Amino acid sequence: MIPKELRDEIAPKNIIMIGPTGVGKTEIARRLAKLANAPFLKIEATKFTEVGYVGRDVESMIRDLSELSVNMVKKEQSEEVMEKARLMAEERLLDILLPQRKTPRTQEQEEAADTSREKIRVQFRAGKLNERFVEIEVSDRALPIIEIFSASGLEEMDMQIRDMFGNMLPKKTKKRKVKVKEAFEYLIQEESKKLIDMDKVIKEAIERVEQSGIIFLDEIDKIASRDRTHGPDVSREGVQRDILPIVEGTTVTTKYGMVKTDHILFIAAGAFHMSKPSDLIPELQGRFPIRVELDSLTKDDFYRIITEPENALIKQYRALLETEGVELEFHKEAIEEITEIAQKINEMTENIGARRLYTVMEKLLDDVSFSAPDLNGRRIEITREYVMEKLGEFLEKEDLSRYIL
Ligand SMILES: Nc1ncnc2c1ncn2[C@@H]1O[C@H](COP(=O)(O)OP(=O)(O)OP(=O)(O)O)[C@@H](O)[C@H]1O
Ligand SMILES: [Mg+2]
Repeated sequence: MIPKELRDEIAPKNIIMIGPTGVGKTEIARRLAKLANAPFLKIEATKFTEVGYVGRDVESMIRDLSELSVNMVKKEQSEEVMEKARLMAEERLLDILLPQRKTPRTQEQEEAADTSREKIRVQFRAGKLNERFVEIEVSDRALPIIEIFSASGLEEMDMQIRDMFGNMLPKKTKKRKVKVKEAFEYLIQEESKKLIDMDKVIKEAIERVEQSGIIFLDEIDKIASRDRTHGPDVSREGVQRDILPIVEGTTVTTKYGMVKTDHILFIAAGAFHMSKPSDLIPELQGRFPIRVELDSLTKDDFYRIITEPENALIKQYRALLETEGVELEFHKEAIEEITEIAQKINEMTENIGARRLYTVMEKLLDDVSFSAPDLNGRRIEITREYVMEKLGEFLEKEDLSRYIL
């Protein structure tokens, strides 16, 4: 909404999230990725190596993001043309099922053909032909060489060679006998490919990356270190330096064209146990003006985490045991006890945040999980007493919980 002259001048305010392990930094990124209809890439800062060393160079994150964006736009577009592609695929399938006679036809013959075509269409739509086999032409282009190159880490080269070979090799097709249903799926894919204008897709995708792309740089603390010793640390600082221009705004060459990074939002996250944000090189610190600190989780947070989200642990275990025909029921007091125990063990030993819930739950239910196949049809109630019985001893014996929970 800002006047155009100013629009370009306003850069996104990059964020550093600081918080102890297991408070949900990465989880936030994952959720954000799902919610935001923006191209979103999460990558560990530790994956990168300094330019000149073997490994991923930092520019690859922009290439990955572009790739992702192209796929995203392509998927949207193919959903849009889906209806049309289905209709066209149906016609092609009917052509295959009912080969046209080459000889000129009388009007009567033509009408008869039309009727039988419609008859077959009805049968097909009702799924009656699903088991029948038809012969279709599929493109056959396996390029084993490419894989060797892409594993070598020479991404730039890989990119060019892939395109080169892709265009060089003639498009081979071969005939395959498949079931009608499979043929239909294949033809839909083919038709929708024809309906999608790739140039437009790429243009839109690049624009999205540039205007609303988000890169989540996880484990940023792992590349922060002040002690300028020798060895791998030297290269860590190099990575930080390599990241600078990308965060600030530069142009990266991707196989879809040039991508400007000026307006991409960067969110960095780290526990910063061993290091502090101030251990990052000053230039990098300055490029992340917003600092967010995440508090350690409380018992109440645990309660919500274990019960509320779609992937809540309680729901996970219930679903897992349901596959064995076992119904698992948790009493409210039992859940409270679980969170209480998780909290205490975090205090007694190491604070590993919500991940403690995983270890506690696993221990709590290992007997049930193990014997589940024999409990088919049973209903199991997890009561507060059961929790105490299974886990109580860990609260008394610190050493034990260090090993087991
Ligand atoms: N605030 C939260 N809300 C919901 N679930 C959470 C929350 N915090 C943690 N969890 C759960 O705990 C797990 C671990 O959290 P996550 O991976 O986000 O930790 P982290 O902060 O990235 O830790 P680390 O610094 O070790 O990478 C998540 O997969 C999620 O199931
Ligand atoms: Mg994490």
